[in-house]
Amino acid sequence: MASSSHSSLVDFGNKHVTKGLARIVDGVIAQGEGSYLTIEDGRKLLDFSTGIGVTNLGHCHPKVSGAAAEQCMKLVHGQCSIAFHGPYLRLIEKLLPMMPHESLDSFFFWNSGSEAVEGAIKLARSVTGRQNIITMQGAYHGRTFGAMAVTRSKTIYSEGFHPLMPGVFTLPFPYWHQLGRAPDTPTAELSAFCLDQLALLLSQQSAPRDTAAIIIESVVGEGGYVPAPPEFLRGLREICDKHGILLIIDEVQSGFGRTGKNFAIEYSGVRPDIMLVAKGLANGFPLSGIISRKELTDQLKPGSMGGTYAGNAVACAAAVAVADVMKEERILDNVNTRSAELFTALNALRANPKLAPCILDVRGQGLMVAVEFASPVGTSPQDQFVNTSVPEKLASRVAKRCLDKGLLILTTSVYETIRFIPPLNISEADLAKGCKIFEEAVEEVVREG
Ligand SMILES: Cc1ncc(COP(=O)(O)O)c(C=O)c1O
Repeated sequence: MASSSHSSLVDFGNKHVTKGLARIVDGVIAQGEGSYLTIEDGRKLLDFSTGIGVTNLGHCHPKVSGAAAEQCMKLVHGQCSIAFHGPYLRLIEKLLPMMPHESLDSFFFWNSGSEAVEGAIKLARSVTGRQNIITMQGAYHGRTFGAMAVTRSKTIYSEGFHPLMPGVFTLPFPYWHQLGRAPDTPTAELSAFCLDQLALLLSQQSAPRDTAAIIIESVVGEGGYVPAPPEFLRGLREICDKHGILLIIDEVQSGFGRTGKNFAIEYSGVRPDIMLVAKGLANGFPLSGIISRKELTDQLKPGSMGGTYAGNAVACAAAVAVADVMKEERILDNVNTRSAELFTALNALRANPKLAPCILDVRGQGLMVAVEFASPVGTSPQDQFVNTSVPEKLASRVAKRCLDKGLLILTTSVYETIRFIPPLNISEADLAKGCKIFEEAVEEVVREG
């Protein structure tokens, strides 16, 4: 294998790796360093995907990789159900002062974001004694059975896998396109509509006494990078408080500085009952967290939570280093500075009269930003934003053109949307380089029609 050519390695992978995995780059990644990935065939890609919002501090940040390597020589597997281990406790110590609300003081670390969602559903059902979960239209929470059941971004994640976990209800989310409203509709208007729908849902479909939790991403990710409006989150909090329903805030993708604050929920000031983290937490080492308050988690029976690899010592040591680097390198400052540059570049593109009809929206927070293109077909003939004069499949064609030019960038949602998730410590020069490539790609694809 070591001497195989790059193309025969790709052929080998295509033959033996499950078809159930999708892939964007036809290649084998040789190395990741900072904001770049090197492919074995020699291509060097500027990475605006960060492994889907994971390598927030860039690939192989020396302090994070160094901490993991050091931990590898001390203890790799401590097993959280056998005893505490140092990195687990040190990580809690680092995270406590970062929490968006002081009540969040009880931690359980698992491996993936999906597992964190499973744990949250278990906790919510167990402490409320109720079964039903309300999720958002367009939400993405993962691919395991509970997480898949509360996922509403695309049917590909559940198609062919039914029956799913029962007791899940879907609430309209204040996203203009899903609600058939103009892109500049005030979020207060969209939020009021959705909160009214929640009142209806609780009186028509799932009674409060049967409803354990509402789960929501602070920024809907796989559903289009749409921040949850603060007034909507505050409305949910009020309704939860009124009915004893728990509010689960999924910060798996939006957490750890991605939106310019430690956690995107801070924009609303809303207190989560349960908060979920993963991805950026350990910059690429598998680690997730279910964070709640002791008063709730004390009701769990010992042994009801756990997992062989849960809270792995190497992943926890890496996460401790992530928390240190976030502070030492003033990552939030960089996010906010680069974010302003990114919005300036994307809004300039939208202001270009040749491109304006093709761009419906530029949105997001911090370095979790999306451009939504228009489409000549839309999601159906009833889609009010169909524009037959714009080229088709703009998002995937632009993403492919970017890749050809050395920029790795992802699409998102059922709409024609491209998401920007560059490393949080990206330099001004690399951000500008990526924006330039994106601009060229959009211009070329639109010109080609
Ligand atoms: C908001 C959110 N929740 C949960 C998940 C699932 O995480 P994982 O892929 O680690 O299972 C994701 C993954 O993209 C996510 O974006």
